[in-house]
Amino acid sequence: MSRTVPAPSLWAEIGAARYPLHLASGLIDDVGALWTGRGPAGAVLLVSDGNIPELSRRVRASLQEAGVRVITTTVPPGEGSKTLAQVERLTRLAAEAGLRRSDAVAALGGGVVGDLAGFVAATYQRGVRLMHIPTTLLAMVDSAIGGKTGVDLPEGKNYVGAIWQPDLVVMDTDVLATLPPRELACGFAEVVKYGMLDGPELFAQIEGWPELPGPADALIGLIRRCVDHKLRVVADDERDLGVRASLNLGHTVGHGIEAAAGYDLYRHGEAISLGLLAALRLSESTVGLDPGWRPRVAAILSRHGLPTRLDPAVPTAAILEAMGRDKKADASALNMVMVAAPGDVRLRVSPPGDRVVSAIEELRR
Ligand SMILES: NC(=O)c1ccc[n+]([C@@H]2O[C@H](COP(=O)([O-])OP(=O)(O)OC[C@H]3O[C@@H](n4cnc5c(N)ncnc54)[C@H](O)[C@@H]3O)[C@@H](O)[C@H]2O)c1
Ligand SMILES: [Zn+2]
Repeated sequence: MSRTVPAPSLWAEIGAARYPLHLASGLIDDVGALWTGRGPAGAVLLVSDGNIPELSRRVRASLQEAGVRVITTTVPPGEGSKTLAQVERLTRLAAEAGLRRSDAVAALGGGVVGDLAGFVAATYQRGVRLMHIPTTLLAMVDSAIGGKTGVDLPEGKNYVGAIWQPDLVVMDTDVLATLPPRELACGFAEVVKYGMLDGPELFAQIEGWPELPGPADALIGLIRRCVDHKLRVVADDERDLGVRASLNLGHTVGHGIEAAAGYDLYRHGEAISLGLLAALRLSESTVGLDPGWRPRVAAILSRHGLPTRLDPAVPTAAILEAMGRDKKADASALNMVMVAAPGDVRLRVSPPGDRVVSAIEELRR
């Protein structure tokens, strides 16, 4: 039975790539038809993690129904799967299955699967087609958008990677129904970041957001706004040499906290929640952000279960040291993103070191 598939919600135009993004509820069983609508059916290596077997089964069935040969595999859930060892396993699996240059990889899962399977697509036989089917809020608004892929080294997160754009992105908001509340909140931390970057209208929508995930139609609209923001920024700077840095708002201190806490106390989004507040504090002193914004942002974050106070067990010195090691930090000074007001973004601001220390210390009060 052939299904009628909806028109794309958005188109990405990044460098030479142009591809559709479908965002709606109930799309998961349409993946096969959406994929074959984009080119030859061929074979697909479907990668997901062990927490979403039912979604994997449905995507596999949908692809098979559309005439695609599917090789299914799962990785253990969590950041620990973003390794070169998994890249070797997956690429060898692709080779054993006879995947060719015209075939594809499908990444079904959160940012971990997206980054890992995306990197496999970028590198297997020097690059094959890729489909992202993000299943976390964070992956929908952030990691499945923009083409960054990669894995971790013991020496650092995302130290090996490639920029590789997908051919199709399918986001079904229904899949968020099974996402644990803590993971939903983590994605929402990035949504709050977009609110500050985009401007007062999006910020107001976020400030008024009810309990997560919120009404289905409104949620689709919210994700769309965030995706649209990221696509616009990435279109101007695919290789991350300029304005794409704005997306790092809250991430300089956030990454420092994440690393200093050993990547287990805080999830990424939780560290970003704290990092955002530190960035807003520094924005007050460096670019004149009205001090009224920070308590408003803190209220939003804490209402959705995100931390606004830094755990005393994470020493400031360790955070500062980790910030210095962050590959996005300039060797000489911290290059930070600041906001003078929602939507008024300033890049490459280097606040004095003592101000950075007090912005971190203030997170303890
Ligand atoms: N490429 C980029 O531009 C980019 C941007 C931001 C983050 N990232 C990367 O993304 C990763 C984090 O992504 P994440 O927060 O999605 O984490 P994740 O992939 O670990 O997913 C979070 C948890 O949710 C589970 N899960 C996923 N979908 C589910 C569903 N529908 N129902 C129930 N459980 C589900 C997963 O198994 C996992 O346990 C990090 O590795 C980070 O480096 C990449
Ligand atoms: Zn982030």
